[in-house]
Parts: sequence; structure tokens; C-alpha cells
Amino acid sequence: MGKATKFVDIFGHNEIGPVENPFPTFRRLRQEEPVILLKGAAYYAHMVTRFDDCIEILKDDKRYSNRSNSRGIGLVMGKTIVEMDGPEHTKHRNLVTPSLAPRALRGDFMANVDKIANEIIDDFAGQGEVDLVKEFTFNYPLRVFTTILGLPAEDVKFVHETAAALATIGVDPAAGFAASAKLKEYLAPLVKGRRDNPEDDLLSKLCTSEVNGEHLTDEEIISFVCLLVLAGAETTYHLLGSALYGLLTNQKQLAEVRDNSDLVVPALDETLRWESPVGLVSRLCEEDVKIGDYEIAKGEAVILALGSANRDENKFDDPDQFNIHRGAEALKEHRAFGLGKHFCAGSRLAYAEAKVGLEVLLKRLPNLRFQDGEEEKSMVVGLAFRGPNQLPVQFDA
Ligand code: HEM
Repeated sequence: MGKATKFVDIFGHNEIGPVENPFPTFRRLRQEEPVILLKGAAYYAHMVTRFDDCIEILKDDKRYSNRSNSRGIGLVMGKTIVEMDGPEHTKHRNLVTPSLAPRALRGDFMANVDKIANEIIDDFAGQGEVDLVKEFTFNYPLRVFTTILGLPAEDVKFVHETAAALATIGVDPAAGFAASAKLKEYLAPLVKGRRDNPEDDLLSKLCTSEVNGEHLTDEEIISFVCLLVLAGAETTYHLLGSALYGLLTNQKQLAEVRDNSDLVVPALDETLRWESPVGLVSRLCEEDVKIGDYEIAKGEAVILALGSANRDENKFDDPDQFNIHRGAEALKEHRAFGLGKHFCAGSRLAYAEAKVGLEVLLKRLPNLRFQDGEEEKSMVVGLAFRGPNQLPVQFDA
């Protein structure tokens, strides 16, 4: 292994810190050093920044294993599908994904999501100004998510705080482990309760899920719910925030989306490309590999910088521009949800709830704009997870 650069040396923060603008660094890396050895808080990994290289690795699940995730996030969640490969992954994915399938997201589900969005907006619609991160983008996906799971509404704050602490495992293991223990202790009696008395919610579906006579154990359900809390709530929160940021800083496009709901999904796709909420994913090399001329030995880790791939100038025209009109084909080419066997299991859910959230918000808050002189305060930050820290807006109440 050669000489490693630290995340902080090229991004100004570690991989979960509030990196403001990683894109000039990503551009330089794509052009000059498309694979670079990085030292994270507790590991070394070769980071790949070009679109084509990321795609090749995502598609090749024989040479690149997901076991890399057992070292970081797997330690706090327990074993889940993100760290599994091959038949074990297929079996578990078949057990857990039907509960997240589009057919589970129709009818009552959409009505419920719409109701949650409206209820949250009711609390501030009369005020004329608000921080949308604090009052909406943060609460809404979590409320949707805990409702789907069947967790009590008053537990939303606890669930969020614990999920946020889980994500710190790479840099603050003690906080990560403490959060994991708390979440598992909280979930255990709920799972037991649903086993005895199933209800109409995701937790019950996971308890009764069966493929070829196989069921999930309590421990597997609890680990999967931990994964969902992180994968399902933290990410959609950032997608909504960055979509609003993109639109608020491009008022013409905001007006177009507000007046034509057919443009909501293109706006979400463009956001996923422009400010990918999950910026980094990882793999472990199953054999010696070469990416271009760069050699990586068996057993070493690779980080795929999806946030960089989605701004690769060899793939996207004018990649730093937020442009909902870049064309139907180009809009669908982002890889913010990954690709291949581990493609995001909740992408339909993410689109569905972000679409409702954005539509309801733009309808209910006319003339939405940044508060005078406050635009500068708002910026999208992060590396592994990325979203705006605040969105101080005003609107016609
Ligand atoms: C904007 C929102 C979201 C983004 C950007 C996102 C992104 C991703 C990415 C990049 C992966 C692939 C990881 C890898 O290849 O190693 C992934 C996997 C996954 N996501 Fe999402 N996700 C989002 C929302 C959700 C939601 C709402 C859920 C569920 C409620 C969810 C559940 C999962 C699960 C279970 C996996 C693991 C799939 C597997 O390993 O087979 N995600 N997500």
C-alpha cells in the first residue's frame, strides 16, 4: 500500500464532517488522480472518482464484495443486506424488500404521506418565514418513516438522534455503539409485540415475511430496522433539502416546478445527481484488481465517490449546473441509488415521499424564496451524507 492522503487534507474535514464544497477537489482527482489512497478515521481505502470506474465496480459483485460494510456500519447495526454477498444477499433481500415494494406504497400510503406533509406545514404556514430544514425536511421523512414502520409518533426525535449517532461509528466508535445498544433495546419489545399481535405496518410485515419457508429472526429484523432508520430517514431528508436548495437558488426552475407537477420528479432526479445524498459507498477487493494503471491488492477497500461520479464532465454536460431540463435520458443516468445487486431497496419510497413533500410544500407556501440577505447562510454540506444545514425562507402567508 502506497502513501495515503487524509480526508481532512483534501476536503478540509473528515468523511462525515461538514465539507462545504468537495467538487473542485473531485474534479481535480477525476482529471489527475482518478484513484487515490485515503486514510479515514479508522481505515485505509482507495477512492475512485470517475463515473465509468464507479459503474464498473458496482456491476462487478464477484470481484468487489460488500463485506467492507461489516467493518464500519455493520459493527453497530449487526449483519444486514448491505454487507452480504451472493446467495445470502439474495435470500435476505427477497425477505425484506417486498415490504418496501411499490404496491405497498399505494392508496392509503400516499394519502397518509400527504396528510403528514400538510400537518407539519400547518404548524408554520401562517408565519411567513421559517427554516425549512428545522421545521420540514428534517421532520417529514422521519414522520413518514416511523408511521410506515409502525413506531409511536412521539418516538420520532429519539429515532432520529439515535440514527444520527449510528452514522458516527467511523469517527466516534463509542457514540456509535452506545446508539446501537439504545436502538436495539428500544426495538426488541416492539418486535416481540408484533410477533404476538401483527398489525398493518412494516414491522409486522418483517415479522411475518417468508420466502421458501425461511423467516427473519428477531435479531435480523432489529438489525434491518437499524439499517432502515439510517438508510431511509437520513437520506430522504437530504434529498428534500437539496432539492429545495437547488430550486431556491434557481427561481425560474422553482416557478416551473410549482406550476407543473410533471416536473417534480425531474427536479428530484437532477438533485440526486447534483447533490447526491449518499456521497460514498464502499467495497472490498476479492482479488488483485487494476483500475486503469492503478493496482489494488486483494483484501483492500475501495470507496466509490458517487457524488463525484454524478458530476463527471465526461458523462454529464455542464455538471455543476442544477438543470431540470437536461433531458429525460440524462436525468435518469445519475447513480445516486447505486447500481446492480445492491441498488437502493427504498428508491421508490424515497421518490414517492419526496415528490409529495415537494409538491405540497410548493403549493402551500406561495412566492417561496430565501429570506432577504440570508441565502449565504444556507449551504449544502457533507461528504458521505450530504444536505443543506439550513434553509431560511420567506413566503406569502
Ligand atoms: C434519497 C434517498 C436515498 C438515497 C440517495 C439512497 C442511496 C442508497 C445507495 C447509494 C445504496 C447502495 C449502497 C451500496 O451499493 O453499497 C442504498 C442501499 C439501500 N437503501 Fe437506500 N437510499 C435512499 C433512500 C432509502 C430509503 C427511503 C430506504 C428504505 C426505507 C432505503 C433502503 C436501502 C436499503 C435497505 C439498501 C441496501 C440494499 C442492498 O444492500 O441490497 N434507502 N441506498
